[in-house]
Amino acid sequence: MSGIVGFMGKRKAQPILLDCLDRLDYRGYDSAGIAISNLEGVEIRKTKGRIKDLRDVLLREPVPGGQLGIGHTRWATHGQPCAINAHPLTGCDARFIVAHNGIIENYPQLKKELEQEGHIFKTETDTEVIPHLLEQHDTGDFEETVRLVLPMLKGTFALAIMSQASPDTIIAVSQDNPLILGFGKGETFLTSDIPAILTYVREFYPIKNGEMAILTPEKVSIKTVTGDVLIPKRIVVDLNPQDVMLNDYEHYMLKEIFEQPKAIEETLAGRLSEDMVYLPELEEVWSEEKVQNLRKIDIVASGTSFHSGIIGKRVMEQLLGIPVAVSLSSEFLSEHPKLDEHTLVVFLSQSGETGDTLSALREAKKYGCSTIAITNTAGSTISRKAECTVFTKAGPELAVASTKAYTSQMAVFTALAIWLAQKLGGTGCAQIPDLIKSLARLKQDVESTLIMTQDAIDQFAQVIYDQDHIFLIGRGLDYVLALEGALKLQEVAYIHADAYAAGEMKHGTMALITPGVPVIALATQHQLLDKTISNIKEVKARDAFVIGITTVGDSLVGEVVDEVMYIPSTHPFLMPVLAAIPLQLLAYYSGTVRGHDVDRPRNLAKSLTVH
Ligand code: M6R
Repeated sequence: MSGIVGFMGKRKAQPILLDCLDRLDYRGYDSAGIAISNLEGVEIRKTKGRIKDLRDVLLREPVPGGQLGIGHTRWATHGQPCAINAHPLTGCDARFIVAHNGIIENYPQLKKELEQEGHIFKTETDTEVIPHLLEQHDTGDFEETVRLVLPMLKGTFALAIMSQASPDTIIAVSQDNPLILGFGKGETFLTSDIPAILTYVREFYPIKNGEMAILTPEKVSIKTVTGDVLIPKRIVVDLNPQDVMLNDYEHYMLKEIFEQPKAIEETLAGRLSEDMVYLPELEEVWSEEKVQNLRKIDIVASGTSFHSGIIGKRVMEQLLGIPVAVSLSSEFLSEHPKLDEHTLVVFLSQSGETGDTLSALREAKKYGCSTIAITNTAGSTISRKAECTVFTKAGPELAVASTKAYTSQMAVFTALAIWLAQKLGGTGCAQIPDLIKSLARLKQDVESTLIMTQDAIDQFAQVIYDQDHIFLIGRGLDYVLALEGALKLQEVAYIHADAYAAGEMKHGTMALITPGVPVIALATQHQLLDKTISNIKEVKARDAFVIGITTVGDSLVGEVVDEVMYIPSTHPFLMPVLAAIPLQLLAYYSGTVRGHDVDRPRNLAKSLTVH
């Protein structure tokens, strides 16, 4: 994925575009570029690397003046990360300048046709067909030309387009790929993600499929692609600009790990009483009768959100007593379970923009399923397309590795399961009072976990940072959490980490256990403790170095491991929220001691809008 920004106003565009790109570079950071118009023409600068490299290019080759322009930070999908492939891109004669996010699926065919017409391609990107198509169909009227070309493009895309012949205009288009207008006093912004422009504006308008935004110094018009003028309904996003600042932290990842008590508190605020969960956002759609008619639930998500989905599945199954399945978004189209109007599909996505998750949502709607989105991002595509949305209120998550969104998702998912169980009745309801009490205490428990584990994990990371392999084992929800712990270590520390159901080691993986290899044994599910301890002994017998994570009050795990770390005890469904914290810290400290850019790990991007 990539990020697009745009600015039009009375101030100099260059520093504003660079500032916005800096805040957006979690969407891609392998190359970057800007195009700025000084009303006589448009100048482009681009480079391989990150926004700081673009700043260096601009120091060497400044762009004179200019109060409007577009910028792009790229995560390569087609063509290597290099200056030539960086956006904005032009065609044969630089008449049109295009920044693109997404994939033009029919580009091979379009490219062939354009080459037959004599167009010469300079890059390996799918994007380059767009400026060539604009040249090919140029009517002399910028807006009309864009309107002619859009129907030729297949795929998901967000586009910011400029034209040498109309240097006072930016045209923006969004097709299943986010592009949002931000409105300030006498100035307009474009962004792929709201946090990038949050320090400038509070009022936004997400451009919808089939719409074009035409930005000129006089006004911003939203039109349908057939030319009808629309009146945009702006949304006001109430976020604190401090939320997107590093403040005293060295990295966003650490800041976001430490923001978890607040994220949990805000996510649950107003949703709990002593014995009930309230989700008013669902009340209008979900009558008691509709809940009673539910036959099954599917959960769909990617990456870390998928891991909280697996936990959600187990919680829902136990509370609701109806079948719950969980699928990876990228697998859902090819292998989805039977869907019908008695199926509820819950979509989990921090960003609300993950391409695979959105495709799965479209698929579920085709079958008449009910849909609920759980997302952290107001105004996101998923929140607009799902029947109902329950927001996590973790605040903007800017580090590529998801931390506070993950734990907030688990909290809100538990609340959703309780809310449905309240309407459904049944045997699972017996656990609800206890669970609600634990939810109400969760913020304090998260705070205590941070205090109890930070220093010990930091020291432990200094010991294991140079290991090539780490194993994480656990049973039940501890196993599911192990999957997430392994993902964090892989993406931030680049350590080969693998998670195993503790009882499965003996069926093959035990062959990989060599003397001294670190094994993290998660032992927070009391009802499974005896069996987990047996499995710990099995790896200890092969001389692994075992670090146990268990709850305060347990005296058994400490006796069989090399190092033990204690965390507070809560309801078993919520133990993964607490036990996630030492694993997040371990990934963070291992990543930093290995000298990695933990906020922007190699080859990754935060919001994956392509398939
Ligand atoms: O925004 P989403 O929750 O849909 O993102 C899904 C994954 O891309 C995301 O969780 C990814 O796995 C994170 N980098 C993991 O830390």
